[in-house]
Amino acid sequence: MSLAANLSAIFGDAFATQGLDRSFGLVVVSARPDLAQFQCNGAMPAAKRAGRNPRDVAEGVLDAITDESPFAELSLAGPGFINITLTEEYLASYIDGLDSRYGAGLQEAKKTIVDYGGPNVAKELHVGHLRTAIIGESVKRVLRFLGHDVVGDVHLGDWGMPYGQLIAELEDRFPDLPYFDEEQTDGYPETSPVAIEDLQVMYPEAALRAKNDEEFAARARAAVVELQAGRPGYRALWQHMRDVSIAAMKKVYDRLNVHFDLWYGESTINHRLQPMVKRLVDDGYAYESDGALVIEVMTDEDTKEIPPFLLLKSDGASLYTTWDLATIEDRVEDLGAEVILYFVDVRQGLHFEQVYRAAYKTGIAPEEVVLEHAGNGTVNGPDAKPFRTRDGGLLTLRELIDMVVARAGERIEENALATEFGAEEKAQIAEIVGLAALKYGDLQNHRSSNYIFDVDRFTSFDGKTGPYLLYGAVRMKSILRETGSRGLAAGPILAPDREQERNLMLQLARFPEVVERTAEHRAPNHIAEYAYELVAEFSRFYEACHILKEEDAARQASWIGLVERTLAELTTVLDLLGIDVPERM
Ligand code: ARG
Repeated sequence: MSLAANLSAIFGDAFATQGLDRSFGLVVVSARPDLAQFQCNGAMPAAKRAGRNPRDVAEGVLDAITDESPFAELSLAGPGFINITLTEEYLASYIDGLDSRYGAGLQEAKKTIVDYGGPNVAKELHVGHLRTAIIGESVKRVLRFLGHDVVGDVHLGDWGMPYGQLIAELEDRFPDLPYFDEEQTDGYPETSPVAIEDLQVMYPEAALRAKNDEEFAARARAAVVELQAGRPGYRALWQHMRDVSIAAMKKVYDRLNVHFDLWYGESTINHRLQPMVKRLVDDGYAYESDGALVIEVMTDEDTKEIPPFLLLKSDGASLYTTWDLATIEDRVEDLGAEVILYFVDVRQGLHFEQVYRAAYKTGIAPEEVVLEHAGNGTVNGPDAKPFRTRDGGLLTLRELIDMVVARAGERIEENALATEFGAEEKAQIAEIVGLAALKYGDLQNHRSSNYIFDVDRFTSFDGKTGPYLLYGAVRMKSILRETGSRGLAAGPILAPDREQERNLMLQLARFPEVVERTAEHRAPNHIAEYAYELVAEFSRFYEACHILKEEDAARQASWIGLVERTLAELTTVLDLLGIDVPERM
């Protein structure tokens, strides 16, 4: 159990003996560390509920505490705040007993689908795909750590007009390929006729052509209808485009430490579309409006307009909204989803509002299923607008990563780090440091805010950055290597006799509440901040407590134990952020 949870149980008992609800016994980290380490603020609401005086309630609670041994000080402040300071022994024995969960409990497991990534097929990943990928990955890891049954789905954009346009374009360029011959229905080549680089160029060209050339646009529309209906040649060609795209995406996602369990996409639920639409019409949910099929999703409580949910376009074609609705059906029925989280740009807020309303209204999502849009902001340039290249184009994610890794390499040189390593190991370290810089630069912001991409700030070894955290972790490793080589081992954690030692212990004990907060708000910035505070607290400890010079062997062994616990906890926190730690640098 976490330290705060242990204390909450003690105070909960004390409230209960006063005939008050145990939940008032909640103990939290003190907002005034100069006055106390923890505080319990339950006396005020409890008194209000019982119609009593809050100070009397607080005094009664303090009297009712039977075992005072954990406390160095318990005091009453203001209208009824209880300030708590622990004994050094109690704190030390708590830290001594930490295991690899660092006090965090397991939550009641929920089948959770994390929808993140969301790139479109036939294009390379770009800057706009960064946040959804790394925020979604981090929250996925945190929920898993807390015991949930989590499935990450990339939810590829693979079923829309671009694929009709690409098929039409390919038919013009390579009419002799077997995919266009209506007579042929199987025996297509194993290898793709196009590489991702070709598609990357053709995608915008075909889109532009469709805008200006009505004959081509009509062929593209027809191709998409035939593709969706299952024309074998088109399906085979589309499968090639999908495969080469996924292979290219995986390389970038792997570098980012982002791993999906499912590579589903909009196409995955194609078989559900017709029966779903039919049922929604039969049950009276969907009706015709201007030739299209829509579902009303506004209610009397709405103060602003929510446009109807578009189920089918007037030409009968399905669209983004239709696919998301059928995907919910699929996730509920086939995957047993209890919670579905969408890590998608905040600007898609209205889309998800409509989809969720339609899903609940039609029973596609039973009431108890949680559908939640955990929206993300954008990565901005120095002009505070979404990040672009100098000529106004979108930077690919690969180029963005390369840029940060290159700068990280320079920083390593500037700081005279990794000097004794060969070129290959140096490059590996630069890769890890660069990715930590990029990811931490992002994850330290709340997911819904925008931030300015600043390669110089992100790669700095000073301040709140990824490299600073890695440097801290690597230093802990090298201390342990050094003590190990001198035959010094960790021993029991002793009651702290210095402030910096105690502060590090208190910091280590805060982990459980922070992971829970991260999960609750689907917001990794909480653990990101925690990681920074942990390293900063460690630095103060390390400056004050000279491990190698310490003459008291038991104290020295206790400090080594503290370094071990700090490194283990920090490594876990960084892993929850998707950040790797190098062995040395
Ligand atoms: N492919 C979409 C886009 O490029 C994002 C998909 C997000 N996920 C979802 N279930 N709609 O905007």
